[in-house]
Amino acid sequence: MRIYFLIVLLSLIRSYSIYAEQNHPLAKLWGIEDIEVPKLLESERNLIAIDKILRPILEQDNFSSSFGGSTIYPKENIITVHTVNFSKVDDLLALPQINPYKDFLSFDKAENSMSLSQLEYNFDQIAFEVSSINPERTFIYTDLELNNNVLYFFNSGINNSATEPYNPKIIYENSSPASQNITQLRLTGITNNVFFYAPWRSDSSSGLLIGPMVYHMTNPHDFGIIDFVGKDVVPTFSVRNDVAAAYIELTITDSAPVSSVGAHVCKSGRTTYFTCGYVLGLNGRSYGNVDGIKKDLIISDMTSRRGDSGGTVLSFVSPQNLNSVVVQGIIYGGGILLHAAQSIDIIFKEIRENTIYDLTLYTGGSSSS
Ligand SMILES: *[C@@H]1O[C@H](CO)[C@@H](O)[C@H](O)[C@H]1NC(C)=O
Ligand SMILES: *[C@@H]1O[C@H](CO)[C@@H](O)[C@H](O)[C@H]1NC(C)=O
Ligand SMILES: *[C@@H]1O[C@H](CO)[C@@H](O)[C@H](O)[C@H]1NC(C)=O
Ligand SMILES: *[C@@H]1O[C@H](CO)[C@@H](O)[C@H](O)[C@H]1NC(C)=O
Repeated sequence: MRIYFLIVLLSLIRSYSIYAEQNHPLAKLWGIEDIEVPKLLESERNLIAIDKILRPILEQDNFSSSFGGSTIYPKENIITVHTVNFSKVDDLLALPQINPYKDFLSFDKAENSMSLSQLEYNFDQIAFEVSSINPERTFIYTDLELNNNVLYFFNSGINNSATEPYNPKIIYENSSPASQNITQLRLTGITNNVFFYAPWRSDSSSGLLIGPMVYHMTNPHDFGIIDFVGKDVVPTFSVRNDVAAAYIELTITDSAPVSSVGAHVCKSGRTTYFTCGYVLGLNGRSYGNVDGIKKDLIISDMTSRRGDSGGTVLSFVSPQNLNSVVVQGIIYGGGILLHAAQSIDIIFKEIRENTIYDLTLYTGGSSSS
């Protein structure tokens, strides 16, 4: 009798822990249980690795007018190659770099029959027209899944008829009062601001001194350098996720640019804390009559609000260590549906080329321990 009871209890506990846990940010994003995360993350990493080989090939002259790029779908374990001219598929599959991965590729008709070269041409034209309009704040990016360029207006009073020949998908954000909560860096060229460290949900005026901002670029990329002089703060290579029940401290093991549309991406920010979403575009730009132009933005659908700017943008990389992350960028700003981040590789490139600072990313641990 006692033994039966024990067995029943054990199996209850086991089934609870196996089936009911959804603590990891990726379990929530992907709508799966914690124990399923390593396998799906491994499949996502594999698709990203294949897509890294595929993407530059699709951009070559002999393919760029036949394909509209690629998007990864980790749950289906497939990369969709948006195809305009199907008679080029065999040429692509014949390439020795691509052939070993043919089972992961699905050739689907590009929604709007727009090739990469067409998308790129249209993007440049739209960007030119938008910069002439000098709007309040507008994002442009290429959405490979939609097979179109997207124009995202934060303000509806813009006459965008000049972009009509290039047929962008137009999204207006201003219909809701929440649009007032646009996140943005409020630094506008001031380089002697002093920065403090304060935990989430605390008043920043009571924080501990970090130091002054000693360099700030606003165009065409947006980032600042803060000189660390504080005596009461010890820098660490971790990202905090304090409001969660588990995975509250994530270790930065490396940096890596975002390379695939459809991959997950997360951020840690002061207003909306830790959120994750999917990469929508890799070539984002922001035009604004106050902020000027920002280029090379990662566009995603992560939630963010005013006050999140400057937070870390990251992704999980190790199926063996779900606390290990790589830095992908820094939050620039966004709205209700879209969010833009400045890419980490661009930031380090600009620092090398334009400043006297010799900086490297502070990392710790190892991705697989
Ligand atoms: C595509 O063009 C590149 C050079 O741009 C060349 O090396 C490659 O062999 C070409 N591939 C095919 C399938 O024609
Ligand atoms: C599609 O590709 C084939 C093979 O390269 C080429 O002969 C044909 O002209 C292309 N079709 C279009 C509409 O570009
Ligand atoms: C919008 O701009 C175009 C020129 O680009 C102009 O012809 C048109 O009249 C404008 N429409 C409105 C409603 O202002
Ligand atoms: C916008 O900001 C206000 C004040 O900070 C807040 O009360 C409101 O909930 C925010 N709205 C959204 C949709 O985030």
